[in-house]
Amino acid sequence: MEGKGVEERRCWGWFWMLMAGIFAVLVAAATLHTILAFVHFRSHKVHDHPSPINRKYALALQVAMRFFDVQKSGKLVNDVVSWRGDSGLSDGSDEGLDLSKGMYDAGDAIKFGFPLAYTGTILSWAILEYGAQMKASNQLRFAQDSLRWITDYLINAHPSEDVLIVQVGDPDLDHNCWRRPEDMIERRPVFQVNTSFPGTEVAAETAAVMAAASLVFRNTDSAYSSSLLFHAQQLFAFADTYKGSYSTSIPQVQKYYNSSGFGDELLWAASWLYLASEDASYLTYVTVYHGQGYGGWGSPGWFSWEDKLPGVQVLLSRVELFSTNLSGVSASANLALQLFRRTAEMTMCGLLPDSPMATTSRTAGGLIWLTEWNSLLQPVASAFLALVYSDYMILSGTPIISCGGRSFEPADLRNFAISQVEYLLGQNPMKMSYLVGYGGNYPLYVHHRGASIPTNATPGCRDGFEWLYSPDPNPNIATGALVGGPFLNDTYIDARNNSMQNEPTTYNTALLVGVLSGLIAASPGPKFFR
Ligand SMILES: *[C@@H]1O[C@H](CO)[C@@H](O)[C@H](O)[C@H]1NC(C)=O
Ligand SMILES: *[C@@H]1O[C@H](CO)[C@@H](O)[C@H](O)[C@H]1NC(C)=O
Ligand SMILES: *[C@@H]1O[C@H](CO)[C@@H](O)[C@H](O)[C@H]1NC(C)=O
Ligand SMILES: *[C@@H]1O[C@H](CO)[C@@H](O)[C@H](O)[C@H]1NC(C)=O
Ligand SMILES: *[C@@H]1O[C@H](CO)[C@@H](O)[C@H](O)[C@H]1NC(C)=O
Repeated sequence: MEGKGVEERRCWGWFWMLMAGIFAVLVAAATLHTILAFVHFRSHKVHDHPSPINRKYALALQVAMRFFDVQKSGKLVNDVVSWRGDSGLSDGSDEGLDLSKGMYDAGDAIKFGFPLAYTGTILSWAILEYGAQMKASNQLRFAQDSLRWITDYLINAHPSEDVLIVQVGDPDLDHNCWRRPEDMIERRPVFQVNTSFPGTEVAAETAAVMAAASLVFRNTDSAYSSSLLFHAQQLFAFADTYKGSYSTSIPQVQKYYNSSGFGDELLWAASWLYLASEDASYLTYVTVYHGQGYGGWGSPGWFSWEDKLPGVQVLLSRVELFSTNLSGVSASANLALQLFRRTAEMTMCGLLPDSPMATTSRTAGGLIWLTEWNSLLQPVASAFLALVYSDYMILSGTPIISCGGRSFEPADLRNFAISQVEYLLGQNPMKMSYLVGYGGNYPLYVHHRGASIPTNATPGCRDGFEWLYSPDPNPNIATGALVGGPFLNDTYIDARNNSMQNEPTTYNTALLVGVLSGLIAASPGPKFFR
């Protein structure tokens, strides 16, 4: 990423007003929930036959999934993108490490560990919820392969207990040139966190992806899965024991992926570790020990590479809604889980456009909109959470959520997710698909070095900029790129130097892959990941 604007974090400040109310209705709600869950348990029929496939979303998924191949570093195995080749082969070699794999973050050739790990966590979550739909549309294998390309790299980036490589490549050196990753010759320094210079958020996010991925590979490669879980546990202990922000330890990262705090990543990692290991101490960590301090109860936020709390709240709703035996869990842990779920519901109430609590952060065209830089991140992240939550409601037999006195059904949340996806696929004032390679009118000047330079040209560092400023469309299609997105007024400038709106990222696409997979067929995922 070329350097980003400050991401706004909005809180609705409903906290105190709602807390009193929440506590009052909790007992009643818990009782009702138990009854409903029981009734549902009795009446629930397992869907033996998945519903028919939505071909439009299946096609969009196939397009989106390709972007991970566009971004791959290393020795390519299935060179499915004709204009990509091997690159970054000696990354890490100065340190005796093989850091050749992994993915370039965006339109440049840096491997930023923090957002890369987040991309992998989202991809894992998408596979765990919607793997059946991915499989039905022949995309599961690609999703798993891309995830593994990330986790192979991250395993190598964690060479000893308390050391994690968090970045390969120096953005100042990299951005000084405009050339394809295949032709890089500049120095590729690696940056690490360790006990003297800790990086709690990045170590915890890396623990999260490894724990989540260990669930993905649990049945297909148990040795790999165990290794991931082992790394996840070590990294979490490192993150939790040596607390400090990587933005302080490595100030250079502030310009690109600055961290605003690490409590959210600690909860996120511990939640995934609980699901992956079923070790109750992780549940105690997120509930009794740190729920109140880090959980953001009563304050809905915006899910992104920077803020994991909305994800934690939805993920822990899964625990609260589906766990068959929470009787062994203390009353305070149960209460904490309910507060996480209530906060997830508040987030949902903010997203639903007809809710009395609806956020006003929307374009006239109906797109959730918060930031000029990479504006599509929040709508696609919100759509993913809304879809997952609506499926949790269906699967747990929770018929409604209540938003300021109005009731909403799972279908309302699903329709919200559809509205965001339809917008970015072309139903918008620009009549433009923001998913490159999908539809007849998508960005042709994506801010992406590899896509902008013909494969037969091998410009040097500086003369490559002629391709940045060339008036011609990109010679190569960055298929699956979900670009930054429109302005608040629903307009968009398809210019190659417009990195604010026209630079794609791996995490945008991972979130989109999650939503599209869930929309392919209306069949909620499994109640349990293991
Ligand atoms: C620990 O990390 C810091 C920050 O990246 C780095 O400057 C230092 O060299 C590392 N320590 C060791 C022993 O490698
Ligand atoms: C990075 O985040 C920290 C903590 O929120 C903040 O103090 C600092 O100013 C930020 N740096 C930049 C360059 O935005
Ligand atoms: C639920 O957990 C408690 C405490 O761990 C245990 O004593 C009890 O047997 C469990 N009940 C069921 C039905 O598994
Ligand atoms: C839309 O908003 C952008 C950014 O604020 C502005 O530059 C542009 O002129 C606006 N376009 C229209 C048609 O209002
Ligand atoms: C991109 O280039 C055009 C034409 O030279 C210029 O008008 C515009 O300001 C540039 N945009 C950015 C974001 O640099």
